Parts: sequence; structure tokens; C-alpha cells
Amino acid sequence: MAVVGLDTKGTATDTAIEVRQLHKWFRGNHVLRGLDLKVHTGTATAIVGSSGAGKSVLLKHMIGLARPTSGQIFILGRELTGKTGRDLEALRRRFAMVFQGSALLNSLTVGQNVGLGLTEQRRLSRKQIDEIVGEKLALVGLRGKESLLPGELSGGMKKRVGIARALAMDPDIILFDEPTTGLDPVMAERIDALMIDLKNKLKKTMVVVTHDMDSAFKTVDYIAMIYEGKIVEQGTPEEFWRSTNPVVEQFISRFKRQEEGKFFDKSLSL
Ligand SMILES: Nc1ncnc2c1ncn2[C@@H]1O[C@H](COP(=O)(O)OP(=O)(O)OP(=O)(O)O)[C@@H](O)[C@H]1O
Ligand SMILES: [Mg+2]
Repeated sequence: MAVVGLDTKGTATDTAIEVRQLHKWFRGNHVLRGLDLKVHTGTATAIVGSSGAGKSVLLKHMIGLARPTSGQIFILGRELTGKTGRDLEALRRRFAMVFQGSALLNSLTVGQNVGLGLTEQRRLSRKQIDEIVGEKLALVGLRGKESLLPGELSGGMKKRVGIARALAMDPDIILFDEPTTGLDPVMAERIDALMIDLKNKLKKTMVVVTHDMDSAFKTVDYIAMIYEGKIVEQGTPEEFWRSTNPVVEQFISRFKRQEEGKFFDKSLSL
């Protein structure tokens, strides 16, 4: 079911996330410099940009984990900026985030990590939680791995446990920080397929930070690029591919060459 929020005047809006004029300074480092971004409900947007551009910092602001130096963030029409305590918690429950470094608790098993949020909510029985945990682990290709500890997992497995943990909470909005980086091609395809399902079948709103342009072009509705602290281009994958903005052209030139290479190889084998 698509979730419709209320804007500041109490009218319905289909904007799930709106970032207005966001600035973030870290001591002398002006990372976000008046960034504006809108994410519509039920759509998937990829945020791309070079390493250190501020992609992870932007995601952390969207879930209220980082405080803006100035600017505003609205979630389903309600202002997140400045919220604390219960109000912040209520908004945060609409979200789940898959962190770049997985952020698993090392002393808990895989099953306990995935079920942690549900256990804390105390709304479901142990058996119900175990069922959800098993189902989400199966979705990311980790069926039956409940009793392993994070220290016993590879980097890619940890990443998938992080995704299962986010899905277990059944949030309206899911933020992914590099979901396919470091995964083998088969698993990356599987995660891409899962993300397409989350969007098409479950109508989740998704924001995906990624370096994996292949995944971005396949899975999302819109691509937005951060450069010098602002969004310099936002459009459908096709618009992005055809962009004449030199910054975008340079950013995707390597990927374009690879894709054209595939085409060239095919035409050679004819
Ligand atoms: N907690 C922090 N304190 C100080 N500086 C920070 C902090 N978090 C991020 N930064 C700085 O903000 C900038 C953007 O970092 P960020 O992690 O958002 O980059 P990114 O675009 O996600 O890069 P990558 O693609 O490598 O993950 C970097 O210069 C980084 O050093
Ligand atoms: Mg990052």
C-alpha cells in the first residue's frame, strides 16, 4: 500500500522525502552545500557521486542520525529537522537503513541481529519473530544461517544480513548504502532483483547510494548525482545516460565504455 503523507499545511503529499537547502559542515569541511532533493512515494532513487562526495552523510541526515548545519528535511510531509525523543522515534519507525558497513552487533547471532528491532517492539511472539527472520534471511540467500555470529561471516554475507534486518521491520522507506558493493555478480543480481520486487510488488520507497552503475541503471526510477555538495543532475536512468552535463558525462564515461564494449563484442561474434 502506498503511503501518503501530509505536508506542513496538513494536505496530502506524495513526496516521501524532501531535502531543502541542506548544508553540513564538519569543522572546516563544507560537505553538503545547499542540497535539494525530492523522493516520491513508491519510487526508487539512486544517489551517485564520487567517493567522499557526501552520499552517506546525506543518508544519515535523512534518518535523523546526523544534524544539519542548516536546511530542512521532511519525511512524508512532516519535518524531521529539530525533532527529538518520541517524535523522532515515530518518524524513524517509517524507515530502515542498510548501512555501508552492515553495522551488525557482533555479540548477537545472525538471527538475533535480524530480529532485534522486532524483539524490542515486543509485539510479536518468539515464534512469529523466528518465522519473519527465517523468511527475510531466505530472501537474501542466507536460509538457515540464524545461529552464526557476525565474526563467522564474509563481508558480502554481513551486507545481506543487514538487508534482511532492514526488511524485517517492514518499513515504508528503505535507505540502502552500497547494497551490492563487494558482492559477487550472482549475488549482486539477486539483490537487484530483490530491490525491484520491493519497489514493484511492495511499493516501498527506496533511496540507494551506490557506485554500482549497472545496478543503478537496472533497479531505480531516478538517478541523482551529488557534486560539490549539491545535486547536479536528477532524472530517469535514460535521461541520466543522455545527460550533456560534463560532470555527469565524465562520471559515467567508464560505465558507458564498458556497455558499448559489450555491444561491440556481440556484434563481433555475429
Ligand atoms: N562524522 C564525520 N566527521 C567528520 N567528517 C565526516 C564525518 N562523516 C563524514 N565526514 C566527511 O564528509 C565527507 C563525505 O563523506 P561520506 O561518507 O558521505 O562520503 P561518501 O560519498 O559516502 O563516500 P564513499 O563513496 O567513499 O562511501 C568526507 O570528506 C568525510 O571525511
Ligand atoms: Mg559512503
